[in-house]
Amino acid sequence: MTKITQEDWFKESKDAVEIGSGCLRNSMFLLEKGIHVAVWESPTVISRYEKVYENFRKSGGVVMNKLERAEHDFAIITFVLETICPELSRRRLLGNTRRMLKDGGRLVLGVRSFYDVKTANDTGVYCPIGRGYRTPIKTFIKPYGIRSLSRILRATRFRVEKVYTHSPILNLVAKAS
Ligand SMILES: C[S@@+](CC[C@H](N)C(=O)[O-])C[C@H]1O[C@@H](n2cnc3c(N)ncnc32)[C@H](O)[C@@H]1O
Repeated sequence: MTKITQEDWFKESKDAVEIGSGCLRNSMFLLEKGIHVAVWESPTVISRYEKVYENFRKSGGVVMNKLERAEHDFAIITFVLETICPELSRRRLLGNTRRMLKDGGRLVLGVRSFYDVKTANDTGVYCPIGRGYRTPIKTFIKPYGIRSLSRILRATRFRVEKVYTHSPILNLVAKAS
């Protein structure tokens, strides 16, 4: 995340949206950088981090009830895409995200790569299921490589602009076309 703060587009950005914001570690960082942030997260997770979300709202953050068409400068999604099954739902998430960005807006994406899941799987605890794996805590993981990630991004009107890390986490910025 700190790497994107060096980019010209980030320095010009005024507002962002985070989808699957979890404990708000990304969005609190962005607020501190002076970016206006709106987030979407499931009510169950929000209630788990009630105090954190309350503090976020008090600091000017917005918690959305649904994903609506918008013109944000950028979106951030980390460790969410690969947890969603099936592929159609992953595409829907990216398609909805595209509709929340202005043309030329950016998507900051972090996903677990094949290498990361393979390393974990060397312990023999990941169970192949569908086109991904079931983890020991019964969650789903669909690891990505740069090719498979570029493909799904292209299909949802994003073009990979810069890859920061390939492995174990694939971190990249894609531009909305
Ligand atoms: C592993 S956590 C990552 C949280 C946060 N992005 C981070 O990096 O710390 C995955 C999050 O994705 C959310 N999530 C799951 N399915 C989702 C979906 N279809 N759309 C948006 N968020 C989803 C979950 O509620 C969960 O908080």
